[in-house]
Amino acid sequence: MSKAKVTFSDTGTTLTVSAGTRLIEVSEQAGAHLVCGCREGECGACLVRVVSGAEYLSEPSVLEDQVLKELSVPWDQRLACQARVLGGEIVVKPV
Ligand code: FES
Repeated sequence: MSKAKVTFSDTGTTLTVSAGTRLIEVSEQAGAHLVCGCREGECGACLVRVVSGAEYLSEPSVLEDQVLKELSVPWDQRLACQARVLGGEIVVKPV
């Protein structure tokens, strides 16, 4: 199974995780603990800014896309409970 390297730029913590892992799960493993609410892609509490490596994240689902639009967030933000790592190197920062 392919791996992805995820760095939290606020703490400098880097983790290598299996492809398919959600960013919120990576955050919990890293002890970064992003703010989290529903974990279902509905509340928007888990916003994270993707500093680099956005191409290594899953495409937003219809639900995530809808929530991001409703919240009018900048283009570089994703819902950590919905975005899954696919591989490569990704740098994120809690919002
Ligand atoms: S925790 Fe609610 S949208 Fe992610």
